Amino acid sequence: MASFEAVAGEYDTARPSYPDGVYDALGPLEGLLVLDVGAGTGIATRQLQARGATVVAVDAGPALLARAATRTPSLLAVVADGAVLPVRAGAADLICSAQAWHWLDPSTRAGEAHRVLREGGRWAGWWSHARADDEEWFQAHWTIVERACPGTRRGMRDIDWGADLAAPGLFEVGDRVAVPWRREISVDEWMTDQASHSYVAVLARADRDRLLGNLRQVLDRRFPDRTMTVRYETWVWIGTKT
Ligand SMILES: C[S@@+](CC[C@H](N)C(=O)[O-])C[C@H]1O[C@@H](n2cnc3c(N)ncnc32)[C@H](O)[C@@H]1O
Repeated sequence: MASFEAVAGEYDTARPSYPDGVYDALGPLEGLLVLDVGAGTGIATRQLQARGATVVAVDAGPALLARAATRTPSLLAVVADGAVLPVRAGAADLICSAQAWHWLDPSTRAGEAHRVLREGGRWAGWWSHARADDEEWFQAHWTIVERACPGTRRGMRDIDWGADLAAPGLFEVGDRVAVPWRREISVDEWMTDQASHSYVAVLARADRDRLLGNLRQVLDRRFPDRTMTVRYETWVWIGTKT
């Protein structure tokens, strides 16, 4: 969590929103009480609100929620651990977690989500990842990241979070929904996005600067006009409280 607090500005500036297909998969949201757990700077919060949901943004990072509140002054926001929610049992229609669920305590997160959802309430988790694996620059990018960031592997993008949620037997989880999309951005914006990743933010300053410099070299060679189109997929899982 602290890693994101340190890069709240970069996160707010350069992280992309989620494709419509994510929200289409959730169905009508009008009038639902939604907890956006690990809401960060409010990217998903704003999209859920735009579809008519009443959203409470929950995050452990006050600086991140402050950014979200700057964009949405009327924001309902709570600084809290997403696995220990200050919410009464059965209160929520839907829990959403946009690439944040993996940060919560795995021993308690599913039970806590189950507790605060109403009967038949739903959990939705989604993760966006660039998936340009057939492109040389992208493989070079990951090779540099894996060398510089201990414990970070490109295969982490492939974790089956639906199976993870289903394991304790508290949710019936549907099939993964994969939403492909393309991101057109400048090389500068891509670099700011990279700097907002936790595995980059936790590095010592010199190591971080070296890593970002090496990534930049790859991009400068591949995208001399300094614009990029990158293929992404957002993977969504939806579970219903049993
Ligand atoms: C990758 S960011 C995702 C933010 C936002 N959902 C989005 O889509 O941009 C992960 C978020 O999880 C939050 N987080 C990490 N551990 C948490 C915890 N135990 N409880 C609540 N939030 C947590 C971080 O502060 C961060 O905002």
